[in-house]
Amino acid sequence: MTRVLITGGAGFIGSHYAHHALQAHPGWQVTVLDKLTYAGNPANLQDLEGNPRYRFVRGDIASRQDVERAIAGGVDIIFNFAAETHVDRSIGDPEGFIRTDVYGTYTLLEAARARGVEAFVQISTDEVYGSIARGRSLETDALMPTNPYSASKAAADRLAYSYFATYNLPVFISRASNNYGPNQYPEKVIPLFVTNALEDKPLPLYGDGQNVRDWLYVTDHCEAIDVMLERGTPGEVYNIGGGNERRNLEITEQILDRLGKPRTLLRYVQDRPGHDRRYALDCSRIGTLGWRPRVPFEKGLEETIAWYAANRAWWEPIKTGEYLEYYRKQYRI
Ligand code: NAD
Ligand code: DAU
Repeated sequence: MTRVLITGGAGFIGSHYAHHALQAHPGWQVTVLDKLTYAGNPANLQDLEGNPRYRFVRGDIASRQDVERAIAGGVDIIFNFAAETHVDRSIGDPEGFIRTDVYGTYTLLEAARARGVEAFVQISTDEVYGSIARGRSLETDALMPTNPYSASKAAADRLAYSYFATYNLPVFISRASNNYGPNQYPEKVIPLFVTNALEDKPLPLYGDGQNVRDWLYVTDHCEAIDVMLERGTPGEVYNIGGGNERRNLEITEQILDRLGKPRTLLRYVQDRPGHDRRYALDCSRIGTLGWRPRVPFEKGLEETIAWYAANRAWWEPIKTGEYLEYYRKQYRI
């Protein structure tokens, strides 16, 4: 059995990867380590309870004791998905981002070094490149993060690399574009706009709505991580993009139209400070390993909208309490 640690496995991408890992790798024994912050949701992993190849540990990646508790039985591969992930929250209060995204990654890298793991997979992001007006970011391009979230992720990305360069730890680093799909916390733009539309609430579009993101369906991301690990080279970075560049305005209109809601629900609001205009990735490096995204954007969006429409019991309890406090502060409504 290969002993695998998945941090942040109660979150959006981590929970998809935990399911994928157990299904695609019958020889893997999976431990999820998750602090269960506001973004971590045990419901995302509920169906795995009772699976003899799965166990859940509640704990903090920035705590050595918690990490040791999670890997006490040994560990062969570490996937680090755990992070504070929302750009707007990082602008309001950066401290938790530095603690988890930077210090937490350091804590895991130290544990990995002490144990001599087979692989350490750092889940980074395309945001580390900053905005790109034309063309596509290459793995070798300079990093120009512009907000505390992306700067923390850039620090973690390069810290992970330093453990390869200095200690020969077999580190693999992915830089993915914007993920979407079921189980995404409704602070991120697609689930926020879909659930607001379902509730006939305004969709708060930042600035002029012309910012561009490249959308990657979450299951395509999971498959790319495996390709990187199985066929990639330790120490390398791999861009993972969906090949679906869309302006935010177009996405907003598609969501309203697909749900049969009026365009009058669209509300232009004050822009995000330092709002990156466009992200776009050159994915030829992972392409040469044989990976291509499989889910076309229109199909993925349709399925995502259908999932939120059918799973109100998943998101309605989230959009209360702390969420509402955050929402009112963020959007001043
Ligand atoms: P998410 O916010 O949905 O989930 C993050 C998870 O990490 C939660 O379960 C949370 O409880 C857990 N967590 C937070 N702090 C922790 C800590 N100190 N210790 C242990 N667990 C902790 O995030 P996501 O969107 O699924 O993103 C997962 C990873 O992928 C992150 O590293 C993120 O930077 C990266 N990423 C995300 C996207 C995207 O579009 N969502 C794109 C590229 C990369
Ligand atoms: O690019 C990868 C990154 O994608 C990940 O690393 C981050 O963890 C993830 O949160 C995401 O960051 P973004 O800032 O791109 O995602 P978000 O969903 O917050 O915003 C997407 C776009 O939509 C962005 O241009 C801002 C805009 N937006 C967002 C919100 C929340 C709005 O117009 N209104 C909103 O209310």
